Amino acid sequence: MKKFYLSTPLYYVNSSPHIGHAYTNIAGDVQARFHRLLGDEVFFLTGTDEHGQKIKRAAEEQNLSPQDFVDKTSDNFKILWQTLNVRTDDFIRTTEPRHKKVVQKVIKDLYEKKDVYESVYEGFYCVPCESFWTETQAADNKCPDCKRDVEFIKEKNYFFKLSKYQDWLISHIEKNKDFIKPTERYNEVLSFLKGNKLNDLCISRPKERLEWGIEFAFDPDYVTYVWFDALLNYISAAGCFSDKAKFERLWPADFHFIGKDILRQHAIYWPIMLKALELPPPKCVFAHGWWLVEKDSGSEKMSKSKGNVVSPLDIVEEFGKDCFRFFLLREVPFGLDGKFSYKAMIQRVNSDLANDLGNLVFRSLNMVEKYFMGRIPEAGKEMPAEYKKVIDELPEKYLKSMKDINFYLSLENIWELVRIANKSVEEKKPWSLAKEKKIKELENFIYFLMESLRIISIYLYPFIPETCQKIYNQLGLDKPLDKADFQKEIEWGSLPSGLATKKGEPLFPRIET
Ligand code: ME8
Ligand code: MG
Repeated sequence: MKKFYLSTPLYYVNSSPHIGHAYTNIAGDVQARFHRLLGDEVFFLTGTDEHGQKIKRAAEEQNLSPQDFVDKTSDNFKILWQTLNVRTDDFIRTTEPRHKKVVQKVIKDLYEKKDVYESVYEGFYCVPCESFWTETQAADNKCPDCKRDVEFIKEKNYFFKLSKYQDWLISHIEKNKDFIKPTERYNEVLSFLKGNKLNDLCISRPKERLEWGIEFAFDPDYVTYVWFDALLNYISAAGCFSDKAKFERLWPADFHFIGKDILRQHAIYWPIMLKALELPPPKCVFAHGWWLVEKDSGSEKMSKSKGNVVSPLDIVEEFGKDCFRFFLLREVPFGLDGKFSYKAMIQRVNSDLANDLGNLVFRSLNMVEKYFMGRIPEAGKEMPAEYKKVIDELPEKYLKSMKDINFYLSLENIWELVRIANKSVEEKKPWSLAKEKKIKELENFIYFLMESLRIISIYLYPFIPETCQKIYNQLGLDKPLDKADFQKEIEWGSLPSGLATKKGEPLFPRIET
């Protein structure tokens, strides 16, 4: 068995989850389900980022202790993942002892190695971003990232020697073209590293200023900078320093899925932290694009701080979880930005799901019922010659696009089969075959439709698992698809004849506007 370790960011618990958070986790879930289908041993990790100034301030606003606050808000994320059918193998919270122990040990080890050292910090600090900025960077006392006010501070702190490893990182990135994806992000990181000297990273906060963080084991006056704390989750959840066998099996991670907003931390800080710890870097950091919201003045990133967020729970209530999952991954290539709107969502659901897929399933099952008393017909296990090319090429195309994290293309590949199946109904006119009593031909054709549905439900399962399980069951098959053997299932002709089908209601009723 091959292992496959995939992570999402740990989300800040000071706000409610929105579409952007749902996006990363749905994409992760699709990739994880795909690898489970392939028979891999999957470790799909998500969680919450619970320390730092902005969490503490959010707790104060609600008159709660930070711990009570994070216990409550972390659950909002867990609930959302259940609602969206995002099935993770672990959920890590940075306030858990298993994580704190790792952070403390890492800092102590790096201090002993002299990769962490003491010095005086003087400069600007952005509370919402938890980032330090120099005077030039924070022109007009504004954070260059989020444009909010920065605070001036001067204090003794602990620093991590990022600068020492800059040349190593440049050569690692140059040697590993797949380390950062997509290519645009790869180029961005590489040219940044070549054009700028890295400053060492301030990784502590004096407790008198901020007590909500992980204490330094050897200096209780300091707590850990929230990014240095949070990034380590990827190894603490994998059993680093606690479960040697598990960690050796899982690390390095195959993918960190993130949004492009946190690329610098994942593609620069994180591999250097690992290098200092003498651990290999993750195989790939994949930074996807942003969901934007249309404004009179143009479009802007959906984010809590801008107050323009759309709640995934509202969308699921209105459209259903599978329509939402499908829309997010079909609408925009993973890696590019997309604009979210109800109009785009309704159009997509109506055209691809109601008209194409839903209609195919409904009319096909209707015909088995009408012509064969709801039983899969005997003949027709041969693949029809006219569709052979599409059906033969599908596995290779699909496997490639899924492995390339090109979800939009995988769906396009599947839709080629959905479309030819629909088109073939128009062309073959099974109702005429029935009238003319061309029974053999009709059997062949109906079997082709049934087998297409079965194959489509397998390929599509990672994207819209609930719907695909329904289709599979409607064919009279009862296996849970998450236990399916992909290679075997995609073989044409393996649908047994004689099974009793169930027509059911249309899967995706058209949304009227
Ligand atoms: O950055 N479009 O947490 P966070 C697409 N705690 N994706 C979006 C998005 C949008 N408009 N908005 C958010 C943090 N995301 C840190 C991470 S990791 C060790 C620590 C998604 O709550 C996307 O995955 O701000 C982005 O990277 C992440 O949410 C940021 O979540
Ligand atoms: Mg953010």
